[in-house]
Amino acid sequence: MEFIRDYADWFYLIGAVLFILTLRGLSGPKTAIAGNRYGMIAMAIAVLTTFFVADHPVIWMIVGAMILGAIIGIARARTVPMTQMPETVALMHSLVGLAAVLIAIAAIIHNNKLVELGPELLAANGVSFHEMSKVHLFELFVGCFVGAITFTASVFAYGKLAAKKWAKTISGGWVKPVQALIFIAMLGFGIHFFLSGSMTSFWAMTALALAFGWVWIAPVGGGDMPVVVSLLNSFSGWAAAGIGFTLENNMLIVAGSLVGSSGAILSYIMCKAMNRSIINVLFGGAMGGAAAPTAGAGEQVQRNYRSGSADDAGFLMSNADSVVIVPGYGMAQGRAQNAVKELANLLKEQGVTVRFAIHPVAGRMPGHMNVLLAEADVPYEDILEMDEINSDFPATDVVLVIGANDVVNPAAKDDPNSPIYGMPILEAHKARTIMVIKRSMATGYAGLDNDLFYNDKTMMVFGDAKKVVEDMTKAINGTGH
Ligand code: TAP
Repeated sequence: MEFIRDYADWFYLIGAVLFILTLRGLSGPKTAIAGNRYGMIAMAIAVLTTFFVADHPVIWMIVGAMILGAIIGIARARTVPMTQMPETVALMHSLVGLAAVLIAIAAIIHNNKLVELGPELLAANGVSFHEMSKVHLFELFVGCFVGAITFTASVFAYGKLAAKKWAKTISGGWVKPVQALIFIAMLGFGIHFFLSGSMTSFWAMTALALAFGWVWIAPVGGGDMPVVVSLLNSFSGWAAAGIGFTLENNMLIVAGSLVGSSGAILSYIMCKAMNRSIINVLFGGAMGGAAAPTAGAGEQVQRNYRSGSADDAGFLMSNADSVVIVPGYGMAQGRAQNAVKELANLLKEQGVTVRFAIHPVAGRMPGHMNVLLAEADVPYEDILEMDEINSDFPATDVVLVIGANDVVNPAAKDDPNSPIYGMPILEAHKARTIMVIKRSMATGYAGLDNDLFYNDKTMMVFGDAKKVVEDMTKAINGTGH
């Protein structure tokens, strides 16, 4: 044990390097399992080292908490379905926020207790004590309110994603002034605590930060929650890093900063792919309007489109050289991924080149399509990102769009007046033939009509994604109607 104490900084350094390798591993599906393993080892090193370097640890409490945490974590990891991942992640962030608040409270109470006992008594009992510096007080103040905001905001995000009744979206003209009022009061009490050390101000700041987290996120629309969760992930990282300074724990500073910066980058990527600004996502709902752009939804003009049957579509695909499948939210909604994989396999057996094109914000959560296709055992090499596949569309015989809409809307490229103008899209409209599976001509998440559906080269195949894909497979197999 002495050995671990003496070399604690080295262990922390190894842990930090492993955390960096974790992020690197998680950047691709092939290396993700190794990335996860690095993360587990790093976390074990961090926990064990911290355990052994602690002064006068209350062993039963720490070991008890570790066992309890491990049991809950393992049970949840084994049972959570992929589709409930976003709310599970939100719940985990709430715990990081709560931990930051509790550590800040403990550190302040501990410090106050030592001040109360006085330096003489402490010295007589062999305890060396330096009163908390202003810098430490500042770290605590920031770590505590960021943690408190993260806690309640994440609990709300969890409730919203899990469709809990208590997670009600709020709206109206009163929301913004109330948000501003609570935020200013929270900062005011925080600054007063920082300057005077007043515990009343500290408690008031913490309570207001908890309230702010809730009223801040409650107006955000459900569809924007994934961006919020990613941002809260970033916040929880910064709160942990702040507390790491207080506890003088280098590992926590490094791990917190990694989580903070990677969460911020992911939020930025998601907003860019949705052509939204983070300010619009976070405060759009509070402005009284819908969180997502809705223009165009009301201007319904009768337009002509072609529709065909699953049999026609199956016939066309089996005679093609190349097929690119573009999955979207409708594939997830219809739980069609396994049927889609079977269709792809059948086409491949018939000598057709089949690939999948993934838009970064297809579906409703980061990596949504990748997760579903991985669950259905679609080989990674068949799955291409938007930048990899876009130049191939003009030479593609058939694009099969399955429940995708916004991510293939050409208005994002052609119509400067469109709310999604500038959003990068999968350029399916450039293929020789386009087939679109959806249940109606209804709009997608952004509430916009889609010119792709009225394109001369497009055939709409109406129906539920799973049923239509199964019918296509039957038709190609010759077992259909
Ligand atoms: P959407 O634009 O939302 O379109 C999905 C389409 O699927 C709908 O038009 C719907 O048409 C169809 N559909 C729904 N259920 C179906 C079913 N069972 N069978 C067949 N079709 C079905 O989806 P997308 O193209 O994937 O784009 C994603 C959108 O979500 C983007 O606007 C993005 O900005 C937004 N968003 C994404 C994320 C992340 S991180 N992925 C987070 C928040 C928001 P019918 O009703 O006619 O069937």
